[in-house]
Amino acid sequence: MEQAQEVPFYTEEDFGKTELLPSYRVDLRNPQNEELDAFINANVVADWSQLTWKQIGKPYEVRTVAKSKQEWERDHGEMTVKTSWEFFNRSFHEWFVKDVPGALADSKKELRKHLARFHWHEVKEALGETVRLSFWNYVHRVQDGVWDPRGKRALFEGLDLNKPRILFLGAAEGYEAMQLHAMYPEGEIVMVDYDDFCRTDRFGHFPDRYPFLGMNSRTGLPRVWHKNQMNIHYEVDDIRNLPFGKEFDVVLSVGLLEHFPDEFKAEALDWHRKFLKPGGYAIMTTPRLQWKSKLFYTVMADVMNHTYRELMDIRQMGLYVYEGGFEILRHGYIKAHNGIVARPR
Ligand SMILES: C[S@@+](CC[C@H](N)C(=O)[O-])C[C@H]1O[C@@H](n2cnc3c(N)ncnc32)[C@H](O)[C@@H]1O
Repeated sequence: MEQAQEVPFYTEEDFGKTELLPSYRVDLRNPQNEELDAFINANVVADWSQLTWKQIGKPYEVRTVAKSKQEWERDHGEMTVKTSWEFFNRSFHEWFVKDVPGALADSKKELRKHLARFHWHEVKEALGETVRLSFWNYVHRVQDGVWDPRGKRALFEGLDLNKPRILFLGAAEGYEAMQLHAMYPEGEIVMVDYDDFCRTDRFGHFPDRYPFLGMNSRTGLPRVWHKNQMNIHYEVDDIRNLPFGKEFDVVLSVGLLEHFPDEFKAEALDWHRKFLKPGGYAIMTTPRLQWKSKLFYTVMADVMNHTYRELMDIRQMGLYVYEGGFEILRHGYIKAHNGIVARPR
């Protein structure tokens, strides 16, 4: 029987390294967070109270719908929001665990085989898969635009936090809370998602050896953290049922706000205030309105588009947050996302 190879975890000796693994990039460059240059502090708005929707227009709505959702709805009627998330999470997760170079080689082989036999329907399918894989390889694996640890570190840097309790709303695999916890260690993360698959698979199978760059609170020096060294509780519950009071130093969401049409945005924003201690931070990101994102949600429609989704620019995101009753402390964008750090007004 073949022995599984022991793969070592990363340590401080690996600082400065970046490497491409089959499913994701490892990036241990700039452990001191110097020259991250990845959070563009937009500062486009000096006074949010002066900005109007008339000046900036409303977000762009992504309208392409995943085939699996269309087929399901043909038989069962309109999908509930929760079922849509269950479809999305299963489909998106598959992409995070792919051996991308291996899958690309297989799909190109399939393509050549069907081309040689003039099987046009299969050629079209194989071509679609090859394009999706090439795109995913570039966006997630090479560019690291989905997790974007450098951008997220730049967004989270310099906050006044000591052993924070972090609440992650709609946590999915929990990536950003782990990055934040690595930078401000020894507190606690509570991840919340109502899809149990997120706890068992998306978070459960998040790679144990993925290195998060953070800090050693004893020495104040940079250190590498891994998922299993963190104090994490995963609650499978609807955010609307949470029993917590105002007890968290940070309430975080990543890709949540843009899934609510305007009539529900105030409620979604209220979730970010409801559980915050006085002086705590609400941190949110949403995907950026840019041609690359439009292309991403078109090419990856069958993987991603099960739920209502908007793409917005930082001014639009900020105006929602401001109108939701927050003071905006920091606003800007990273590779594929807008980012805001705010406090209730
Ligand atoms: C778009 S995902 C967050 C993006 C995430 N970074 C990812 O990679 O998928 C939003 C998550 O919020 C969860 N969610 C949405 N509404 C929720 C609610 N009312 N209560 C709990 N979880 C919710 C969904 O199940 C989903 O996993």
